[in-house]
Amino acid sequence: MPPLRLAVVGCGAAARSCHLTALPHVPQIRLTALIDPDPEQARAALKWYTDQGGTAEDVLIARTVEEAADAFDAAVVAVPHTAHAAVAGDLLARGRHVLLEKPMATSAADAEALAAAAAAAPDTRLLMAHPRRLFPANAWVRGLIRNGDLGTVTRVRWTEGHPYSWEPVSWSMFDRALAGGGVLTDTASHVFDILLWWLGPDVEVVDYVDDSLGGVEADAVATLRIGGVETVLEFSRVRALGISCVVTGTAAEVSVGTDFPAGECTLITASGEELHRGDVSAVPPAQDEWDDLFVEQLRNFADVCSGADVAPHATAEDGLRVARLIEQCYTGPARRPLAQPWLTGTMSRSAA
Ligand SMILES: NC(=O)c1ccc[n+]([C@@H]2O[C@H](COP(=O)([O-])OP(=O)(O)OC[C@H]3O[C@@H](n4cnc5c(N)ncnc54)[C@H](O)[C@@H]3O)[C@@H](O)[C@H]2O)c1
Repeated sequence: MPPLRLAVVGCGAAARSCHLTALPHVPQIRLTALIDPDPEQARAALKWYTDQGGTAEDVLIARTVEEAADAFDAAVVAVPHTAHAAVAGDLLARGRHVLLEKPMATSAADAEALAAAAAAAPDTRLLMAHPRRLFPANAWVRGLIRNGDLGTVTRVRWTEGHPYSWEPVSWSMFDRALAGGGVLTDTASHVFDILLWWLGPDVEVVDYVDDSLGGVEADAVATLRIGGVETVLEFSRVRALGISCVVTGTAAEVSVGTDFPAGECTLITASGEELHRGDVSAVPPAQDEWDDLFVEQLRNFADVCSGADVAPHATAEDGLRVARLIEQCYTGPARRPLAQPWLTGTMSRSAA
């Protein structure tokens, strides 16, 4: 079978450091187009790709999907969040397979429309880019939960906060019109996917607090009930909160780092016996090298697009659940503003 002809739509930081770094290692795929309204970014992405060992031959540089439409059969979409729905929807309508960056869309309605478009065209595949499913520690915890090794899960605590260090090439993460939201949209879209993958799709927002005053939030705290399990999550783009997740069950408690690699992971029984301390080995499809996460993600996408009998790592349904949950946090009745007395001079009772 000839390689899948692939366009990368949106040629910024994620396109380069995630997808274009991996592509030269995925023989089932041939890069044929780089699409970005800013041709400087597309050209910089092409240079990045060739520096990684990719071949520039046959790679068309275009400003729009329309200009390059005949050049590819599938696309990675790595555009700013608020453009996900329109760009992916256009590609699906043209019959192109899509691997879509997170979050699927910035509204549940847009995510539903994308999922419906994909479902209506079964020969066209829409997969979500949720590479954290391939982190060895995340796959390990899922196995422990599903095998009953923790007993009944009673509580999850997830903390992920550090000064912002990603380097987007545009204002995609800070301008609300492009980003849609802040740390919840960006970071929690990864985390929500993992938690729903671990604990099941049944979720309720008990409490949600963030510091947005109209711009993108830098701090957010969510209390959820997922599969009946009390789950408390704290995110920050400005504070060093650490990066850890603790899952407590009636039989044992597991703790992992939430970044990659996870660092020290522990599994301790309710009676205090230490069953594991240290690294977790990668059980395929999990990967123990950062770049290999994206190689595996693209390999899986190519296999699914070719009609091979393999399960996608993350589906449109998975993306839709995350988009709905983010919207429930932002707009549901549980949302409260974070107290910011340094701005308002007062501590309102509801925001305390
Ligand atoms: N999976 C991960 O670990 C990971 C990491 C970082 C970012 N991301 C995701 O990747 C996406 C892009 O983030 P980024 O950091 O690369 O942003 P970025 O600002 O670096 O790049 C965005 C690029 O998209 C281009 N663009 C804007 N509108 C476009 C359109 N309509 N069509 C084509 N291109 C368009 C911009 O010109 C820019 O070059 C986001 O969805 C983000 O959440 C994923």
